[in-house]
Amino acid sequence: MTEKDFLPKAYTALPAEGKVTWKAPSNIALVKYWGKHPNQIPANPSISFTLDACATTTSVSFKKNSSKASQFSFDLYFEGKSKPDFKPKVNTFLERIEPYMPFLKEYQFTIETSNSFPHSSGIASSASGMAALALCLMDMERQMRSDMSQAEFNQKASFLARLGSGSACRSIEGDLIAWGRHAGIPKSSDLYGIKYPFEVNPVFKKYHDIILLVHKGQKQVSSTMGHNLMKGHPFAKERFQQAHQNLDRLRPILAQGALDDFIEVVESEALTLHAMMMTSAPYFILMKPDTLEIINKIWDFRSRAKTPVCFTLDAGANVHVLYPESTRQKVIQFIQDELVAHCENGQYICDRIGMGAKKITPKRE
Ligand code: PMV
Repeated sequence: MTEKDFLPKAYTALPAEGKVTWKAPSNIALVKYWGKHPNQIPANPSISFTLDACATTTSVSFKKNSSKASQFSFDLYFEGKSKPDFKPKVNTFLERIEPYMPFLKEYQFTIETSNSFPHSSGIASSASGMAALALCLMDMERQMRSDMSQAEFNQKASFLARLGSGSACRSIEGDLIAWGRHAGIPKSSDLYGIKYPFEVNPVFKKYHDIILLVHKGQKQVSSTMGHNLMKGHPFAKERFQQAHQNLDRLRPILAQGALDDFIEVVESEALTLHAMMMTSAPYFILMKPDTLEIINKIWDFRSRAKTPVCFTLDAGANVHVLYPESTRQKVIQFIQDELVAHCENGQYICDRIGMGAKKITPKRE
């Protein structure tokens, strides 16, 4: 597939008005995407667990204009309140996807969005938010085309979501998603995420992720800036190669359920991501003292309690604690006894691996 394959086929009549609602989850990368080329093309392939509880629900109401407008027309509400400061991001997204959805300027939109996780929790909502919006617009497009398969729908939704925020393309389906061309994964693409095509041991089908909210404030450096700093980064080439190697390493690990090796790859990926930040020019640190305290306590608990629990990080100070179902009681007790003290206001979110986005149909009165 190339970008051209996502240009629209002929539409049947455009609907006069309507409303669609989708709920899309967040995701957490095991092998991290960090660094990109123009048009949101990743510099290296990545793989993620789709999450379940952390999600964005978005409704798009649409009404056809009498003629095509010269600009996009939309109102935006976040958790019931008008949000003009979110508009530029959505406008940029619409500009990027317009070639693939030429009907957008024919409509007036009302976009209402809300997150399941606390506002300003330091959890990036861009992945779930862009995925939910892309799915709503795809749902609209599906109403204009009689011949769209489910596979085509998911693939184009992922393609569009990627243009909003790279990692959003991994938030359409579950439960393990690969994104970025990698020789070892057939049909993998830089343009959209695909379901991980190889054997996955049942232990990973019920994996848990508790997100410890260490720092809820604004990040000092955005992901966009961080990705850009990989251009000319002295270790970029080696890092991109390493991501390919780690994807290959994960294949037998995921098939066999080899948890010790899984932990080694996942924690190394998290620390490498942050090492790239610390060795960028200019350098920066997104971890906080509590992030490091938590990591050390996880290492200590793991060796003491012989329990296969590990951490990963995204581009921030919060810590994702990953563990299999069989260790659930022990790990929750450990978190309550030893880690909650390091969370801002003692807050954490219990999540687990999920199966992807869902359409929300209105309840009948
Ligand atoms: O999708 P973005 O541009 O917010 O970048 C996400 C980057 C990481 O979360 C750090 C890694 C990843 O693969 O999700």
